[in-house]
Amino acid sequence: MSEALSALIEHLRGDLTLDRPERLRERVDALDRIERLSLYLSDTPDTLALSAGIAAQQSRLDAVNERLYRNLRDAIRRGDGANCLREWMPVAEHADTDTSIAQGEGYDHLDALLGGIAQLHEPADDVAALMPEMVFYQPTPARHIFDLIRRIAPGADDVVLDVGSGLGHVPLLVGACTSARCIGVELEPAYVASARAAAADLRLSRVSFIQADARAADLSQATVFYLYTPFTGGVLGEMLERIREQAQRRDIRLCSLGPCTQVLAAQRWLRAIDVELHSDRIAVFVPCGNDDPAF
Ligand SMILES: C[S@@+](CC[C@H](N)C(=O)[O-])C[C@H]1O[C@@H](n2cnc3c(N)ncnc32)[C@H](O)[C@@H]1O
Repeated sequence: MSEALSALIEHLRGDLTLDRPERLRERVDALDRIERLSLYLSDTPDTLALSAGIAAQQSRLDAVNERLYRNLRDAIRRGDGANCLREWMPVAEHADTDTSIAQGEGYDHLDALLGGIAQLHEPADDVAALMPEMVFYQPTPARHIFDLIRRIAPGADDVVLDVGSGLGHVPLLVGACTSARCIGVELEPAYVASARAAAADLRLSRVSFIQADARAADLSQATVFYLYTPFTGGVLGEMLERIREQAQRRDIRLCSLGPCTQVLAAQRWLRAIDVELHSDRIAVFVPCGNDDPAF
């Protein structure tokens, strides 16, 4: 294992392209590989020299990443986030054909990017247990948020509401990349506090977070609802009924990811648009229309 690690460190040392900010994916992959291979490193005199090489490459790659995140944070604070972050958006024509771009459940370098920009802190404890049918926190992978932004292209008149927003990845990234207002509704106060701190730090004045049970929250502003399966069963049914009432008053869109997509697809008052439905890809639905009896 230490030969593989030596070879990797040697290779990284010689690869000067890794200092280019846009090579984030390669840096994140390299840091992951170093971490994985280091797990098997034992403490022998031979490995001491290697350890110094490992630490040097890790701090070099981390420093380039930190610089990139800092520049992007500054751009967002200046109101230039849309320009700078869109460079990271998977290219449209690839996203529709290359399933690794907008499909799948894993996390990648774009999550490192979002984490580095937003600097969100997941509270270690003090998180209340959820009631049955309410789903524990897991963030939407960043590439799906980029896919969401590309597909719904929210404008200044839109209000995007993330139902069960956790640490706020979706409202923060959508707010930084578009002129839409974004609202996160989340039950857990510690997540809301962290999300609010990130929005304030990035000066995203159009992004706000409400601490509430989503079933009781004010939905009257939203034009786009996003659900990364925040609940199941009867709780999801209740929420969908509340959203349907909103749909009877104005034009809305509903976007989903995860197992709840199947439940939305089964609603007679909704129809999916745009792409084939997969639970590991963002789905976009619109109400069928006032003339449809199911509505
Ligand atoms: C799967 S996570 C999704 C997080 C976030 N929407 C995202 O995509 O990054 C589900 C979130 O819904 C929250 N949640 C569950 N039941 C809720 C409820 N009744 N009202 C508000 N939030 C709720 C959980 O605390 C958790 O943070």
